[in-house]
Amino acid sequence: MGVEICVEGLTKSFGHQVIWQDVSLTLPAGEVSVMLGPSGTGKSVFLKTLVGLLKPERGSVKIAGRDITRLREHELYEVRKLFGVLFQDGALFGSMNLYDNIAFPLREHTRKSESEIRRIVLEKMDMVGLIGSEAKLPGEISGGMRKRAGLARALVLDPEIILFDEPDSGLDPVRVAYLNQLIVDLNAQIDATFLIVTHDIASARQVPDNIGLLFRRELVMFGPREELLTSDEPVVRQFLNGRMQGPIGMAEEKDAAQVEQELAALSGSETAQTPGSQALTPRLLPGPGITRPPRWEAIARREAELRRRKAVADA
Ligand SMILES: Nc1ncnc2c1ncn2[C@@H]1O[C@H](COP(=O)(O)OP(=O)(O)OP(=O)(O)O)[C@@H](O)[C@H]1O
Ligand SMILES: [Mg+2]
Repeated sequence: MGVEICVEGLTKSFGHQVIWQDVSLTLPAGEVSVMLGPSGTGKSVFLKTLVGLLKPERGSVKIAGRDITRLREHELYEVRKLFGVLFQDGALFGSMNLYDNIAFPLREHTRKSESEIRRIVLEKMDMVGLIGSEAKLPGEISGGMRKRAGLARALVLDPEIILFDEPDSGLDPVRVAYLNQLIVDLNAQIDATFLIVTHDIASARQVPDNIGLLFRRELVMFGPREELLTSDEPVVRQFLNGRMQGPIGMAEEKDAAQVEQELAALSGSETAQTPGSQALTPRLLPGPGITRPPRWEAIARREAELRRRKAVADA
């Protein structure tokens, strides 16, 4: 049934460089959350802090009631079994073929027989469309295939918590669509708690229950998908619409005067709209034959209410 992750007052620096500070959020058990943010805002650092690979200066990360920032190495080893992690670079072992890479967590953390391991590995490879590539080395396959191999490896231990760092980068649009469906279906079937870092706005709009946005060393917002999608906060709007105009610049930050100017130039289009008037993209539903998790009813009611209010406001 997935596990809740409760982050409170988390701050991470490297030397004098503060990456983000005072980050607080709760990843609800069994829900899918997406973390957005410009490149370099510390999304990957955030995921690594959640698994205890990096130590924060302040704050706590409570998983099933235990603060993992305070655990010793051997205790962390146990907690990590709850996690399936896909790192941004795939992090496959270069000298091992795909089969052995994907089998690795099973051989390391379980006492399963090789025949059972084979069943699980082939099942996950099939799930991500890699059947037939068992004997290939990571250096012999495409970037997208490496991503999918990392994905299969993240799933073999049936994790309670799944962290994906840009699972969709390097994939073609059709593969991204399959991947999104896979995430929604998996979540409905295994009920794990998901956190996905992505730059793909279309995915961020359709897939998660919750969306967060990191910007300028802060968590600007974290909340239900429909709240972020209909938010009028300028940083959120700019990011979700992939615009150049707004607070986010090429070097991450712009000065206030320039932002004012750009937002004024946009008037007449979306900035001039009434609050709550932003479009609510429909959610991606689990595939045929997959039972929807119970929370979907409450979400559907919330979204219907939002649409009703928008219709009233537009009338
Ligand atoms: N081990 C480390 N030591 C020192 N600095 C680090 C380390 N890891 C990350 N950083 C710095 O932390 C900042 C955030 O990096 P991070 O990789 O988390 O960004 P990101 O949001 O994932 O970016 P992208 O979208 O490009 O993947 C960067 O300035 C990076 O240089
Ligand atoms: Mg990153």
